[in-house]
Amino acid sequence: MSSTQESSESKNIIVSGGARGIGRALVRYFLEAGHRVFVFDIQEDELQYAVTKHLEKHYKNGNVGYAVCNLRHVDDIRSKVDQAAKFFDGKIDVLVNNGGIASPYWKDDKTMEAKETYDQWVAYMETNLTAPFAMSQACIPFMKHRESDSDNSQGAHKHIAGPCILHVGSFRAHQSDPNQEGYAASKAGQLGLMQAMSISLGPLGIRTNLVAPGRIKVGHESKEGDEKGDTWEGQNTEKDIDDHPTNRAGRPKDIADACLYLINAGFVNGVDITVDGGALRKKSG
Ligand SMILES: NC(=O)c1ccc[n+]([C@@H]2O[C@H](COP(=O)([O-])OP(=O)(O)OC[C@H]3O[C@@H](n4cnc5c(N)ncnc54)[C@H](O)[C@@H]3O)[C@@H](O)[C@H]2O)c1
Repeated sequence: MSSTQESSESKNIIVSGGARGIGRALVRYFLEAGHRVFVFDIQEDELQYAVTKHLEKHYKNGNVGYAVCNLRHVDDIRSKVDQAAKFFDGKIDVLVNNGGIASPYWKDDKTMEAKETYDQWVAYMETNLTAPFAMSQACIPFMKHRESDSDNSQGAHKHIAGPCILHVGSFRAHQSDPNQEGYAASKAGQLGLMQAMSISLGPLGIRTNLVAPGRIKVGHESKEGDEKGDTWEGQNTEKDIDDHPTNRAGRPKDIADACLYLINAGFVNGVDITVDGGALRKKSG
């Protein structure tokens, strides 16, 4: 099989936090690329709207399913992964751990000196770091290499790509503004989780990588954004362009492009791709 044929294979993909924002865009671009997708989110109305209305055509074709899931409850994660696996007839090819608390600052302009930030710290860790571990753990039995995969043309080591897990991290793992300790630490923790998993899951035929977005405006990727007719262009200012050596602001599609590359990149494992328009390389001031 040629690499072109391999990369056009339809994959079974779970996306967490896919009701809105970057996650919704990932789901849409994966479906448009010919994959099947199962979406998790905690926001029931937003999730139902995203799948049955925003993605109506794909929903009617049976290519996208969904379940309300609280990523902070491991039992919920396990039962919803079982439900997704049934939707996919027992085989999951890709897990994208995208869902999480995306706001990087402590609430109400607090600093870490304020004791009430402790509960927020726990929420960041459980949602952004423990959940990707628990999601991955629950998916492994449905992803790992099976005997039936190992004929001469399709063996795990001969696959162009094979199954993979993608963590959606953040450039904040490397660079903070003040008062982002909980978010930054949870995202830096994802880097350690990713590199450890890339080694441990290798023998199971599963690759693990991380995509770290920079600043991406996502208000238009939501029910409210659709109702108000919001656009990506309308949210970005001159500063959003000037902040980036690429001379443009980041789009949700930039994250989808990186994920689609990694899904088909069979010799790429244990890497962190920062998709920030070069902002991390730019001197401030
Ligand atoms: N947008 C950016 O500028 C940016 C930058 C760097 C990293 N990221 C990362 O990208 C990912 C998506 O961010 P976004 O900007 O689209 O944010 P968003 O808030 O629009 O989307 C996050 C989604 O996760 C879901 N979620 C949150 N807690 C959950 C829980 N307990 N259980 C299930 N679902 C839950 C939300 O309901 C929401 O649909 C996050 O991991 C975020 O940290 C975003």
